[in-house]
Amino acid sequence: MLAKIEQLLQEIDGLTAHSAEELEALRIKYLSKKGAINDLMADFRNVPADQKKAVGMKLNELKNKAQERIATLKEAFENQDNGTAELDLTRTAYPIELGTRHPLSIVRNEIIQIFSRLGFTIADGPEVEDDWHVFSSMNFPEDHPARDMQDTFFIESHPDILLRTHTSSVQSRVMEVSQPPIRVICPGRVYRNEAISYRAHCFFHQVEGLYVDKNVSFTDLKQVLLQFAQEMFGPETKIRLRPSYFPFTEPSAEMDISCDICGGEGCPFCKYTGWVEILGCGMVDPAVLEANGIDSKVYTGYAFGMGVERITNLKYKVKDLRMFSENDTRFLKEFEAAN
Ligand code: DAH
Repeated sequence: MLAKIEQLLQEIDGLTAHSAEELEALRIKYLSKKGAINDLMADFRNVPADQKKAVGMKLNELKNKAQERIATLKEAFENQDNGTAELDLTRTAYPIELGTRHPLSIVRNEIIQIFSRLGFTIADGPEVEDDWHVFSSMNFPEDHPARDMQDTFFIESHPDILLRTHTSSVQSRVMEVSQPPIRVICPGRVYRNEAISYRAHCFFHQVEGLYVDKNVSFTDLKQVLLQFAQEMFGPETKIRLRPSYFPFTEPSAEMDISCDICGGEGCPFCKYTGWVEILGCGMVDPAVLEANGIDSKVYTGYAFGMGVERITNLKYKVKDLRMFSENDTRFLKEFEAAN
C-alpha cells in the first residue's frame, strides 16, 4: 500500500491542467468519493495494526498534497483566464481626445495672416529685455513720467534688466540691425505689474507693427489699419482715429472700431458711444529712428501696437481676462469650431 501511495504522490507532483474540464477530471480522479485516494482510505482498514500509524500519516500527506496541487492549478488557471479576458483584441480603441488651439493663438494667427497678406514679415525679440530697448531707444527720457505709464517688473539685482512692458522693444531690435524698407509685425508676450482682475493681468499679449521707408505717410497707416479692421471684424466695420500720446510716435493716435455688438447704435459694451478702442498708433518719432541708426531726413515710418486679449474679447465676447490663463478645458473647448 505504501508503494501505491508513493506512486500517487509522484503522479500528483506532475499534474497539469489546461482547461476547467481537465481540472475537474483530475479532481474526480483523485479527490472524489470514487477517486484513487478514497479507494486507498477504504483499503486502510486491511492494513496490519502495527503499520497503521505510518501508512495513515502517508495517506494524509497524499490527500493534503492532492488538494493543494489541485487548488494551485485552479488558481493559476483562473489568473490566466482573467488575463486573457482583459486583453480583448477585438475591442474598439479608446478615442484620443484632441486638444484645441488656445483662443489667443487663434486670434494672433489671424492677425499675422492679415498682415502677412499686406507684406509684413514676423520679427521676434526677448521677453527679458534691457532698459535701452524697452524705454530709452523708444524715446522715453530718463526719469520722464511716461515710464510710469507702464508698471514695470525689474530684475532685482540688475535694475537695467526688466520684463518687457510692450512689444515696441522689438521695433528697436529690428531697426538696429536693418535698414529700410522695413515692414514687420512682432507678436509676443508682455508683462506689467498690475493687480490681477477681470480686466487686467500681470502678463498679456501684443502685436506690434512697424513700417519704415521713404515717403511713408499717415494716410498709409490709416489705410492699412482700415484694411486690418475690416478683415478682422467684417467689411462693415468703420474706424476712427483719436489724437493721443506715446513717446515713440508723433503724431500719435488711438484707433476705435465701430461697436460690432450694436452696430454703432450704442450699447453697454461700448458704453453707449458706438465705438470701442483697439490699438495705439502713430508716425515713428524721428528721435526713435535716429536712436536706432536710421536717417530720419531720408526715411519716415508708422507704427502701431494692439493687445491680442483685447481683440479676442471683442471677437468672442470673453468678459474675464483671467479665463485666458486658467487652462479650464470647458472654456478652451468652446473655441474648437474656430480651430
Ligand atoms: N506700446 C504701446 C503700449 O503698449 C502700444 C503702441 C502704441 C505701440 C503706439 C505702437 C504705437 O507701436 O505706435 O501701450
